Amino acid sequence: MHQPLFIEQAYIDGKFVGSKHTFQVINPATGKSIGQIPDLTVADTKKAIIAADKAWKPWNSLPVGERCTLVRNLYELIRKHKDELARIMTLESGKPLTESLVEVDYGNSFVEWFSEEGKRTYGETIPALKSGIHLSTIKQSVGVVAAITPWNFPLAMITRKLAPALAAGCTFILKPASQTPFTAIALARLVDEAGIPKGVFQVITSKDSQGIGKELSTHPLVRKISFTGSTSVGRSLMEQAAGTIKRVSFELGGNAPFLVFDDADIDKAIAGAIAGKFRNSGQTCVAVNRFYVQEGIYSAFADKLTAAVKKLKVGDGLKKGVQVGPLINPAGLEKVQEHVQDAVDKGAVVKTGGKALKGNFYEPTVLTDVAPNSLLAQEETFGPVCALFSFSTEEEAIRLANDTPFGLAAYFYSENIHRCRRVAEALEAGMVGINTGMVSNASAPFGGIKQSGIGREGSRYGIDEYLEIKYLCYGE
Ligand code: SIN
Repeated sequence: MHQPLFIEQAYIDGKFVGSKHTFQVINPATGKSIGQIPDLTVADTKKAIIAADKAWKPWNSLPVGERCTLVRNLYELIRKHKDELARIMTLESGKPLTESLVEVDYGNSFVEWFSEEGKRTYGETIPALKSGIHLSTIKQSVGVVAAITPWNFPLAMITRKLAPALAAGCTFILKPASQTPFTAIALARLVDEAGIPKGVFQVITSKDSQGIGKELSTHPLVRKISFTGSTSVGRSLMEQAAGTIKRVSFELGGNAPFLVFDDADIDKAIAGAIAGKFRNSGQTCVAVNRFYVQEGIYSAFADKLTAAVKKLKVGDGLKKGVQVGPLINPAGLEKVQEHVQDAVDKGAVVKTGGKALKGNFYEPTVLTDVAPNSLLAQEETFGPVCALFSFSTEEEAIRLANDTPFGLAAYFYSENIHRCRRVAEALEAGMVGINTGMVSNASAPFGGIKQSGIGREGSRYGIDEYLEIKYLCYGE
């Protein structure tokens, strides 16, 4: 019989567990508590690591077909409970329900993808250069994996790590963001129902992100850390993981440029700008942060973008028709306010928006004439603000776009095929959207270069992050 998915417990060694210490989870749209969740400790984390280590060999020894069938079961269950999951997600993250429904499908597409890709983790035979030896490779699971995930995609950022890890034969300890633990626990219920054995997946809910992160990144039984979040936290996890030479994969901050050349289709660029900027109220690592528009079309683009932004409906994500929800919390709102104020102080013009609304909401905003030394140009704003800069030549646009330590996503619009090839190759980013503002999907390698990360998630490459290559040399 199916049990409810809203569970105020953590999940260790196949059991839903409580604690006498709990914390409240706040709905960012209302400021009210939606429930409380165990505030687990480093000692609980150690128990989860031991359980994951114990579960690893039996899980890894299952024939891959059986493991992949269990992962497929999870896919079917997520599909079946899509509405319930999406509602929990909206309550804890504030994102509009329509977006939560899209995220459940997006997150589940990784489960489906890796339930299939797990069957294709081929080794190879290698021609020997001399007689008397025979060479081949096999791929084996890394072991116990720890994942630390953010609040902006409460399901998808978990599943694109969990699904390949499970299919590869790893066991998995998750520390979800303290803002959005309920989606993670709901997922644990479905993992349980899918028949995935105890100890294979565990969820540590806690406010002590630093303490739990340190334990996960230093414990010798954890063989790999996968993290999505800020570059500064990634840096410190990497330092900690260095002590036991763990494998790491990181999806870190971005500062995505969006270039609009004068040979672009402006209406398509506006549609791409809205999609690339306002998804999750601008709170995505791949969100457009800097719009560079060529001089000749700057005013036309700014006017059309302003008109489109004015139409966006802001509000509680559970209300019909809402397209832009709240920022995650007051700190998120303050950062947006600080960035806009700084830009205005340096001469930016507010075309629309520019003000905080009641609660954690901020008006969808367009700013023109933004100075290059503004915070908006240098840091991820993580909010519903379009900052417009201008450029005159292709070389200048590329130089400005690349003038950042980050390199996650970049986007540009042009109808000239030669320019498209040149600019796509010159942009320093792990992912480039050419005449599109959306690049994410399960079959594509998601990830960054420079200080935006290490490794790729999704695609046929995503499972390699959870596999070691073993080379076998046979003598005669
Ligand atoms: C992120 O913001 O970290 C992920 C966005 C995506 O998967 O599209």
